[in-house]
This record gives sequence, structure tokens and C-alpha cells, in this order.
Amino acid sequence: MEKTFLMVKPDGVQRQLIGAIVHRFEEKGFKLVGAKFMQISRSLAEQHYAEHQGKPFFEDLVQFITSGPVFAMVWEGRDVIRLARKIMGATNPLEAAPGTIRSDYSSFMSRNLIHGSDSPESAEREIHLFFNSSEIIEYKKAIDQWI
Ligand code: TYD
Ligand code: MG
Repeated sequence: MEKTFLMVKPDGVQRQLIGAIVHRFEEKGFKLVGAKFMQISRSLAEQHYAEHQGKPFFEDLVQFITSGPVFAMVWEGRDVIRLARKIMGATNPLEAAPGTIRSDYSSFMSRNLIHGSDSPESAEREIHLFFNSSEIIEYKKAIDQWI
């Protein structure tokens, strides 16, 4: 089954939105298979956001993502990579559709609450950047057959 990496960023933690954000993915029917509350180091931030190195917002982004704890997660489900991006909404809250996390709870791009992998390749890379294989828990849920 497909897996993706999602993370409540420091603004989401500070604003006490971990539960509200996790709830969106639980109610969709996705399965949580890994989670940790952690502080991102500068080196991990630079690796995680390597694709943005050299862009004008890169330094602020690294500063922000290392500014306080984050809630990192791995979620599993059918088409979870693309569907989680839909639930998150567009990067810029001005463009995010109503009902998405970024539209409902955020108002500007550099404080958009949540990170989610944007492709199978980035999901694979990001999951392994943040989690050891022993931290990903495979288990059965009774409702799996219905989702
Ligand atoms: P990006 O990977 O393009 O967006 P997403 O998080 O939707 O995958 O950018 C990473 C983060 O960088 C984004 O969530 C917010 C921040 N960012 C800015 O602050 N300014 C910008 O112009 C862009 C494109 C992103
Ligand atoms: Mg991205």
C-alpha cells in the first residue's frame, strides 16, 4: 500500500492544531503507521528542503522549520500521496480550496501549517530521512477492507 510523509510544521504545533490536522487524515480513512514529535536540526532541514536550495525563500524556510517542534508522520492508504496533497490544499492559502487544511486554518504561504510529499519519489526519500524502518509499524485494522 502507498505511503506518504506528512508533517505538522512549527506553526501548527504552536497553534495547537496537531489534533485537528491528524483528524482530517483519520476521517478520510488513511492509516497512521509512524509518528514522532521532534525538533528538526539545521542539517535535516537542508536535506529535507534540498530541492529549494538557492531559492529566495530557502533561508526563511529553514529558519522557520527549525524554530520549534514538529509532528512528523507516515500515513498509508490508496493514492495517499495525491489525496493527502488535496486535503492539505495549495501551497499558498490564497489559492487553497475551501475545506482544505491550508485554506481553513492558514492565511499566508510561509506559515501554511503542513508539509506533504509531492510524488512517490519524494515520499520514499522523506520517509527514510525522518524514520528508521523499525519506526514504521505495519498492522491490520478491521475497517481496511472497506476503504
Ligand atoms: P513547496 O515545496 O513549493 O510547497 P509545498 O509545501 O506545497 O510542497 O515549498 C515548500 C514550502 O516553502 C512551502 O510550504 C512554503 C514555503 N514557500 C515560501 O515560503 N514561499 C514560496 O514562494 C514558496 C513556493 C514556498
Ligand atoms: Mg513541496
